[in-house]
Amino acid sequence: MSHYKIAVVIGSLRKDSFNRKLALALAHLTPDDFTFEHVEIGDLPLYNQDDDAHPAPAVQRLKTEVASAQGLLFITPEYNRSIPGVLKNAIDHASRPYGQSVWGGKPAGVIGVSVGAIGTALAQQHLRNVLAYLDVPTLGQPEAFIQNKEGLFDDRGHVGEDSRKFLQTWVDKYVAWVKIHNG
Ligand SMILES: Cc1cc2nc3c(=O)[nH]c(=O)nc-3n(C[C@H](O)[C@H](O)[C@H](O)COP(=O)(O)O)c2cc1C
Repeated sequence: MSHYKIAVVIGSLRKDSFNRKLALALAHLTPDDFTFEHVEIGDLPLYNQDDDAHPAPAVQRLKTEVASAQGLLFITPEYNRSIPGVLKNAIDHASRPYGQSVWGGKPAGVIGVSVGAIGTALAQQHLRNVLAYLDVPTLGQPEAFIQNKEGLFDDRGHVGEDSRKFLQTWVDKYVAWVKIHNG
């Protein structure tokens, strides 16, 4: 495989989302043969099984984007000790109709930033549970629970100096994980 397209799913719709900033910053740490493509989830309707036979254009777009990717990257905040509803909604959409999920077998990374001290640990654990059911192999180590602190991003939007080594290691392991699963 000469090029790896990564479908990046961000669990926050907020304009100034720290998780969106993290997605942009991580893209600077990836090798040239990796491209991050952000998947839009904010315009998806609420999942309703009645619509399975007639999916909305936004749902079809989501499924096409995920299906054509060589890897997945979930970057999510923690909402009330779990994943935000908008993220679960997107995951449910692309998992249906039954037997036509586009998630299965796509190697994934799970990471997130929050203002809380546990840095999305519980949200990530819930997400891993969902992804395991959907047959998505997730990178287990290193774990990356990021607390948003002054200096996490520099004034260019890159990862700040204090976190760069750790996040570069995480990205390197993620890149290797994607390559193993596309071998
Ligand atoms: C509904 C809601 C629930 C939240 N619950 C948690 C939580 O359980 N743990 C946590 O660390 N932060 C929690 N937060 C704070 C988020 O970490 C913070 O808003 C963060 O900036 C959201 O990510 P974003 O900047 O990407 O939008 C919560 C925020 C909201 C709006």
